[in-house]
Amino acid sequence: MLFQPPACYRPFLSGRYTVSAGLYRLGSQRIPWLEVPQVETHTFALDGDYPRFVASKVGAHTRAPYEYMGEAALTPDLREAALTFIARTLAAESGGVMTWDGRTFRNLLLGWAADLEPRWGSVERLERFPAPLASLVAEVLPVHALDFLGLNAPEDLALVARDARTARDWLAAIHVLSPQHWDPREKLGRDFVAVHAPVAGSGPLNATAPRLIDAVISRGPFVRFAWGLSMGDRLDHHPAAPPDADRAEATRFDPDRAFLRVERQTLTGFPDAQGALFTIRPYTYALREAVALPEQAHALAAALRSMTPEQVTYKGLARLLPELLAWLDEGSGKG
Ligand code: HEM
Repeated sequence: MLFQPPACYRPFLSGRYTVSAGLYRLGSQRIPWLEVPQVETHTFALDGDYPRFVASKVGAHTRAPYEYMGEAALTPDLREAALTFIARTLAAESGGVMTWDGRTFRNLLLGWAADLEPRWGSVERLERFPAPLASLVAEVLPVHALDFLGLNAPEDLALVARDARTARDWLAAIHVLSPQHWDPREKLGRDFVAVHAPVAGSGPLNATAPRLIDAVISRGPFVRFAWGLSMGDRLDHHPAAPPDADRAEATRFDPDRAFLRVERQTLTGFPDAQGALFTIRPYTYALREAVALPEQAHALAAALRSMTPEQVTYKGLARLLPELLAWLDEGSGKG
């Protein structure tokens, strides 16, 4: 599994851009825009891109770990439920690369193991041993159990909590090392509506927030997809990270430098702990490959045309769109 190429998702094949829940039930609903549409069951996707994710996460962690992670009134019950689920599921889905015995989490590729205390979130003992990718994490010191688990997973992690008394929700923990032009620190402690307020056209979605939060905590697990275009395939677009070409003033559309960025997101609820785990796994595909077939190029052009001007701006496409659409129309992806 670990050395397979990453899965290829093309959520734009619907020919429409929507700001909507778009939840698929993990384990029973087919994902229609996979190469071969199928039901998915996994939370964590370990594939040939694994070393790239670890390297990027280590870069962020080394630069400024406090810009990417934090906790806000995370209850011990939710911490314990989520950390136990993450450790168990990551190990189970790692094809034998990682193991978890309820105490020690071991990664045979990264060459480290840690004793974790899931209720209070501590890393109690860190051991290092020779392994193929050990040099990637040789200098990294995980600061707590969520940090350690997050550094072992390609996915970014966030915990949503709900107050049983008031039914208000808030983002209780975040470990997001590959953000797409947003700052994890601005989201921590905020509710669903505040987190999504900057999203152009999020009004109708936000109006359903209490129902969505309830579904996510009590009726999952779910998977959903977000997509956009980037001028580059860098994973970490934290606003405070050193800038690159993506969304830079001088950057123009270039089909050889453009990437489709798809985020596969899963939601797993812990009803007894009044919360849920939200995972985000970015995929970056060279645009030429993402729209290699004429019908794919047509669908992407149609989806881009369905965006409002505010959405085009929000997605960072204002300077790129005319040339991007011309390229898609002209060559149906081959131009
Ligand atoms: C049922 C659960 C959720 C749904 C249906 C949902 C839906 C969406 C949608 C439709 C967008 C716009 C995507 C686009 O750019 O086209 C979005 C953006 C975003 N979502 Fe969610 N989301 C959910 C849960 C969460 C959670 C738990 C977090 C916590 C980290 C989160 C963080 C974000 C962020 C940070 C953005 C970008 C906002 C920005 O640019 O500042 N979402 N979400």
